[in-house]
Amino acid sequence: MTGKNKNLEKLLFAATGGEAVDLTRRAIIVGGASLLATTLFGCRATNQRGANNRNVGVDGRDYAAQPPTGAAREIFLEARETEIEIAPGKVVRAWTYDGKLPGTEIRVREGERVRIALKNNLPEETTIHWHGLFQRGTNNMDGVPGVTQQPIQPGATFVYDFRAEPAGSFLYHPHFGLQIERGLVGTFIIEPKRETVSYDREYTLMIDDWLDGSPDEAFEKLRRGEMQGMKMDETSAMSEQPAINSEGASGGGKTGANSPPMQMEEGADVAYRTFLINGKPPENPAEFLVKSGERVRFRIINPSGSTVYRFAVAGHKLTVTHADGFAVQPVETDALEIAPGERYDVFVTATNAGAWTIAAMSADEPQRGARAVLRYADTAAQNPSVKDLPKELNGRLLNYAQLVALEADNFPNNAPERLIDLTLGGQMMPYVWTINGKTYPAEPLEIRAGERVRLRMKNASLMRHPMHLHGHSFRVLNGSNAPPFKDTAIVEPNGSLEVDFLADNPGDWAFHCHHAYHLEAGMMRLVKYV
Ligand code: C2O
Ligand code: CU
Repeated sequence: MTGKNKNLEKLLFAATGGEAVDLTRRAIIVGGASLLATTLFGCRATNQRGANNRNVGVDGRDYAAQPPTGAAREIFLEARETEIEIAPGKVVRAWTYDGKLPGTEIRVREGERVRIALKNNLPEETTIHWHGLFQRGTNNMDGVPGVTQQPIQPGATFVYDFRAEPAGSFLYHPHFGLQIERGLVGTFIIEPKRETVSYDREYTLMIDDWLDGSPDEAFEKLRRGEMQGMKMDETSAMSEQPAINSEGASGGGKTGANSPPMQMEEGADVAYRTFLINGKPPENPAEFLVKSGERVRFRIINPSGSTVYRFAVAGHKLTVTHADGFAVQPVETDALEIAPGERYDVFVTATNAGAWTIAAMSADEPQRGARAVLRYADTAAQNPSVKDLPKELNGRLLNYAQLVALEADNFPNNAPERLIDLTLGGQMMPYVWTINGKTYPAEPLEIRAGERVRLRMKNASLMRHPMHLHGHSFRVLNGSNAPPFKDTAIVEPNGSLEVDFLADNPGDWAFHCHHAYHLEAGMMRLVKYV
């Protein structure tokens, strides 16, 4: 990353053919003239600041935040088409950041100002969304085309300029059509000013579903009602019989005993060729080296188009310390489920020498999934067989009810001033996914600064929906006295979920299902401060 940063100004200068660029005004630097969003997000820009006093809260407080000033960390990213050999002899065509799958990791300090220049060398327009970052005072850096910015034209460069907050494990990806399905994703780690956990080593695990071919065509097939048959890549089908059942799951809420049996849900709606951990398929697994006795932190990130995974490490327990970047009281488990847009930080203590399977199996097709290897440096053991699934997958399964926030609680204790009822609907045929019966664009969900807002979600469909809110973290009301903060939360089929957030960040923010095809089919609304 740093090697590429050379001189941002110079690069930008070149990108615009020598015209001076006013970075402080975060100008959109374009090669062409007219800017038209061509996707579903193609509504007119609605981000007109200062039209009213929406920064002044119901409590009389001024919620206006200042855009960042002062010295910035400069980062340069290039989005481009690339051929990548994901396993010996197996070359795929991907769209990437900096030619890598996943893209360049961004790692900065909490509160640091970052200026990230994105050069768009894709054949299409694009944007980047910094998933989970607050963007206080910089709603226009949130990367939602047609809402917070115009799309970045092919050949053009755009400079994102914002403060890195909060601390935690995040990701960045386009917010443009189905581009996230082509490999455009990277991790974004914000190291806290004060670390609350100690560890000897850390790794980031990006678990991604890999489609061979065009996601736009896959979407068209779904639209036409052509169910995509299983296109099974031998290597990513690891065992013949389903590895997952709901036995041994504790508690209610997210999954386990209270959730409907798997077979009642509809299967995966997209046929993936394989599943990748850090860009590598099961037959060429990423290896994570540890030494006996070490405490290892894994940052697990799911940028997948549609796959929910069940995750476990053979021979080891997991201690969950962060959900979507936010610290929780450490909770021990054997397995966890992670949906698109979610992140978990888990600790593994290396006290069982050998070479062990790290598995992330599709919750819809439990015999398929991603795999990596946890390898102790002091062992000569062979890699475990591809067909060997950790028995921990069927052990204790984390659920939201077990998550308790660790951070000092400055969340208002009052009842919500604003209650918003949301019914999540839709089905495979016709392939339409809705919020309160409507596809995006539809009227925004209006809130006022200073309010405690409650989203009361009911899932009236047969698929899971990982619902994600931009610009805020919400509390998942799970019955605990200190409900955990998250920014993405699964609403189970025929289930319901309530989340509360403090409206402390005026702007226009996307709220949507993080299943890329549900989003593309319309499952989004804007949350708008009025
Ligand atoms: Cu990662 Cu609008 O989302
Ligand atoms: Cu969905």
